[in-house]
Amino acid sequence: MSIEKEIQKRRTFAIISHPDAGKTTLTEKFLLYGGQINLAGSVKGKATARHAVSDWMQIEKERGISVTSSVLQFEYGGFCINILDTPGHQDFSEDTYRTLMAADSAVMVIDGARGVEPQTRKLFKVCGRQGIPIFTFINKLDRDARDTFELLDEIEQELGIRTCPINWPIGSGKSFKGVYDRETKEIVEFRDTMKGTKEGEETRISIEDEEAAKEQIGEEAYALLNDEIELLDGASDEFDQEKVDHGKLSPVFFGSALTNFGVEIFLKHFLKMTAPPLPRKADIGIIDPVKSGFSAFVFKIQANMNKAHRDRIAFMRICSGKFEAGMTVYHVQEGKDVRLIQPQQMMADERHVVDQAYAGDIIGVFDPGVYAIGDTICASGSNFRYAGIPTFAPEHFARVRQADTMKRKQFVKGITQIAQEGAIQIFQEENYGMEEIIVGVVGVLQFEVLEYRLNNEYNVEIALEKLPYEHIRWIKECGTEIESIKGTSDMKRLKDMKGRPLLLFVNAWSIGMTLDRNPGLVLEEFSEN
Ligand code: G4P
Repeated sequence: MSIEKEIQKRRTFAIISHPDAGKTTLTEKFLLYGGQINLAGSVKGKATARHAVSDWMQIEKERGISVTSSVLQFEYGGFCINILDTPGHQDFSEDTYRTLMAADSAVMVIDGARGVEPQTRKLFKVCGRQGIPIFTFINKLDRDARDTFELLDEIEQELGIRTCPINWPIGSGKSFKGVYDRETKEIVEFRDTMKGTKEGEETRISIEDEEAAKEQIGEEAYALLNDEIELLDGASDEFDQEKVDHGKLSPVFFGSALTNFGVEIFLKHFLKMTAPPLPRKADIGIIDPVKSGFSAFVFKIQANMNKAHRDRIAFMRICSGKFEAGMTVYHVQEGKDVRLIQPQQMMADERHVVDQAYAGDIIGVFDPGVYAIGDTICASGSNFRYAGIPTFAPEHFARVRQADTMKRKQFVKGITQIAQEGAIQIFQEENYGMEEIIVGVVGVLQFEVLEYRLNNEYNVEIALEKLPYEHIRWIKECGTEIESIKGTSDMKRLKDMKGRPLLLFVNAWSIGMTLDRNPGLVLEEFSEN
């Protein structure tokens, strides 16, 4: 198959949800359609099977949240689909943000009984900021769900995005009868006998065939459906592909991942409504996915995914051209030609070596410690950069010390590696060495992950003392010696790992006060990489 055809059949999307909305279950069903896993036998032991598919870290299993993101690839209906899993907790919204940079669209899974939950508002907003197409799958209709109009309203309010239901649920919970397909004006009957198997033949009845429809879903449900459709047709946004493409309108689907209802309907529409990898902006102009040679950027680095191997993997999203094993490429930020070592793709819980991959695909390569998040890799002979990935300003800080002073080396190695992955940021006080470090995180859960990982992967116990600071500002211009800055009593002077000076404050008022007291002082919320 030509490079063009290979790229045209790629669809790369991120899947996001709050914990427990059903992201894992839906992903599993997608894989089922791709024929990648046989769930028939694993329904009983689903808890274990599920974790084996997309969770890597013990802590996730213990806490029931997905901490790291993973990548899965499968084929369906002539398409090659890449799913990027994302952590389901707002404390990891930075990780989600990076993953979205590598995706061409996003699928949001929402629990029909819960709607948009407070702890995931931030996550969903991050999604809205990217301007990529966002699809909504409202799940668990086999359980009592909230009023559909109310749910749509909430999504519109929370995300600042319009919605366009592609199908419409008929009842929910015990009275769930199926969905109404607005395009074909047909009722698709719900059956809960499809767990663990591919959807069988669908039963569809035209809504105009009043008698048959009434018989199928009952008179009351039929009347209500007609009322709702009338209301919907009058009040909701019409489907508009261009608005979808720009993330301004979210097509909404209803279903039940657990019983495998509505999953294939979703997949079919989704594939029609999404685009293959599109041209991306680089510093030299637009890079065409088909006509340009190989290029990719690093969006994630993960150490010790497999404890036995103690390896570090850099995940890259291929943006253009074709990757072939053994090829020499140019690592722009390092300024040199490199070989991508042990290129691999993930399939369920297995990794396998890839011989070739195309724009849209994600590959993981062995990282001897040279890659950083946001780095560009291109074909040897080319030299351009994709825009970097901005880091979020940490909002929580703690002083971290190793409990056992004999383990200094492991402590420094562990904490530096975890910082390079982008999960935490580390800072030093002026006269302190690496034995005591200030750690900044976006969400407090990352402190737990840090503690767990240092212990589990590096065999280091730490003492972690939370600090009251909430605001970080890098010093862009000082106008005087840093030591002479007249700050408030709650201000703290630090430097980051690149030696750049910065200040921590407990509240926003202190920032204003410090700026007032020091004419010539210029502060920045983000550091340039
Ligand atoms: P997540 O990845 O978004 O965190 O959610 P996950 O798929 O793990 O699903 C969370 C729980 O919700 C699971 O139940 C799962 O079986 C259930 N679930 C998912 N989709 C549906 C659905 O469409 N309908 C219903 N009724 N339930 C659904 P659990 O009890 O936590 O796990 P398990 O004991 O079933 O493994």
